[in-house]
Amino acid sequence: MRYAVIYDSPTGNTRILAEEIRRCMDGQNGNPEECICFGELGQEKAGAEMLAAAESEIVFAGFWTDKGGCSEKMAGFLESLHGQRVFLFGTAGFGGAKEYFRRILERVGTHLAPDNTVTGKYMCQGKMPLAVRKRYESMLEQNPEDERMRAMLENFDQALVHPDEADLELLRKSVSSAVDL
Ligand SMILES: Cc1cc2nc3c(=O)[nH]c(=O)nc-3n(C[C@H](O)[C@H](O)[C@H](O)COP(=O)(O)O)c2cc1C
Repeated sequence: MRYAVIYDSPTGNTRILAEEIRRCMDGQNGNPEECICFGELGQEKAGAEMLAAAESEIVFAGFWTDKGGCSEKMAGFLESLHGQRVFLFGTAGFGGAKEYFRRILERVGTHLAPDNTVTGKYMCQGKMPLAVRKRYESMLEQNPEDERMRAMLENFDQALVHPDEADLELLRKSVSSAVDL
């Protein structure tokens, strides 16, 4: 099966998932699938990625969560796809709630034209830059009673280890059932 893995991952979490997908598709069963394109989505209208996607039987599209959706760059790429089987995967700073991931995936999926088929979806938590924790800390200093900020700090610390091995195992299962490996 010809496939492409195209992702947007400024801080590397989503890239970890992308690399796992490639390992998975390269096959533990000694039957590697054909990788047409693997890499970070480019800045310039993503022309090469679009061509690679058009030649693929399945496109794995990876995004980081930006304000509850995907980046504009990834949105533009998804909008360029037609008649494709697409596996959406992503990471988000806030974890813990399946419903939260479901809503993000739904929102990101709205960038796909109806002539595509979403064959699989996967999301997990991803660590955030230390500057975010510093911001939370100073907000908590200004307002020590702020329970919401305390929860944000807790979430930040939980996120530090993700994506972890358990996340990758779930991803592998999701990929295997989507492509019938
Ligand atoms: C500008 C910005 C906006 C973000 N918005 C969200 C958000 O709305 N929800 C969320 O859960 N995480 C949000 N995050 C966290 C990232 O989605 C998360 O750390 C992700 O794993 C980054 O992926 P990457 O390492 O592949 O770039 C945001 C991060 C940044 C820098």
